[in-house]
Amino acid sequence: MTDGERLLEVRDVSVSLGRGRAATEILNGVSLGLGAGEIVGLIGETGSGKTTLARTILGVNAPTAGTVRISGTTVSALRGRELRGFRRSGTVQFVFQDPLRSLDPDLRIGAIVAEGLAIRGELGTDELAARAREALELVGLESAMADRHPAQLSGGQRQRVAIARALAGGPRLLVCDEPVSALDASSRNQILRLLDELRVRLGIGILVISHDLSSLAAIADRIAVLYRGRVLEDGPTGSVLSVPRHPYSALLVASAPSVADHSGPAPQTLRRTASDPPAPAGAGACVYVARCPFATAACAAAPSTNAVGASWEVACHHAETWRHTLAERRKHHPAPAAAARPLAGATR
Ligand SMILES: Nc1ncnc2c1ncn2[C@@H]1O[C@H](COP(=O)(O)OP(=O)(O)O)[C@@H](O)[C@H]1O
Ligand code: SF4
Ligand SMILES: [Mg+2]
Repeated sequence: MTDGERLLEVRDVSVSLGRGRAATEILNGVSLGLGAGEIVGLIGETGSGKTTLARTILGVNAPTAGTVRISGTTVSALRGRELRGFRRSGTVQFVFQDPLRSLDPDLRIGAIVAEGLAIRGELGTDELAARAREALELVGLESAMADRHPAQLSGGQRQRVAIARALAGGPRLLVCDEPVSALDASSRNQILRLLDELRVRLGIGILVISHDLSSLAAIADRIAVLYRGRVLEDGPTGSVLSVPRHPYSALLVASAPSVADHSGPAPQTLRRTASDPPAPAGAGACVYVARCPFATAACAAAPSTNAVGASWEVACHHAETWRHTLAERRKHHPAPAAAARPLAGATR
């Protein structure tokens, strides 16, 4: 790594999937950074490209433009044997959403956890078993768990095993794709807490992908908002949650009861209505234009990503003015409850 370079540097990455004329651009100019010991939360609705980005970071998808660097290695430039060598090094490990489907049901937990290490062929049976026990203890499971099979474990325990398997190889970066979406609320909180502890104890960087803002709010240092393959906002969690600068981030925050500031805008004020002027259309328009209640003619051109302050970026032509527009609208068209007050007074 060069001085100042973070553990993960995704720069202007575009990815197309499908072949020939069926190829579709899934990611467009995505940039993202993550430091050692840091948790970055990537939020986006289903189909926004989160898993595609995770697979690109792992080197499974090759970008059509841009670079992915991890610990100083340009992973996006690696091919064939070099790429396999990088994957086998275990620098990056992946944790999937559904632990039951990602764990081989016929193997014992100990063998599952040591699987990646066994493939490297560097350790004997006893050493592999010891490393598996160590990894299980790291994730808060008894080492006796090593003799069981996945079907004998609860959902939360299985996800701990998946994390232990990822940790066994000594990664520097953990990519967790919807790690708690399949879990009940109590297991979800325990797994989130575990990830938070691990980044401190091991100093690893963790990218947590989710469609649920409240899961990310609990642990992420930074939040990046992905929408139709583009990062619309990327900033410190506290800033993004308290004063989101992008209208879409604002809608996500307002729609998440556990993180919403109740004095902030209501979700319905952040959605287009039939009375809004038609949104400018066109291939080059802002990707959010069809849903944005603040779109103007300027939004017919995609906004560039601009810094709001230190380490906070947003892609919106009206990032500095849409709140003012919203306040003006409230003045001229108060919410129904407020509008009803004078009428109620007149009947007295
Ligand atoms: N192999 C593929 N070929 C073509 N399109 C794909 C492929 N994989 C995913 N997609 C499309 O890419 C988009 C993003 O998918 P994905 O990265 O899985 O989103 P997310 O994880 O945010 O739900 C979706 O529209 C999906 O249909
Ligand atoms: S650039 Fe325009 S359309 Fe896009 S989010 Fe900002 S205001 Fe809305
Ligand atoms: Mg996905």
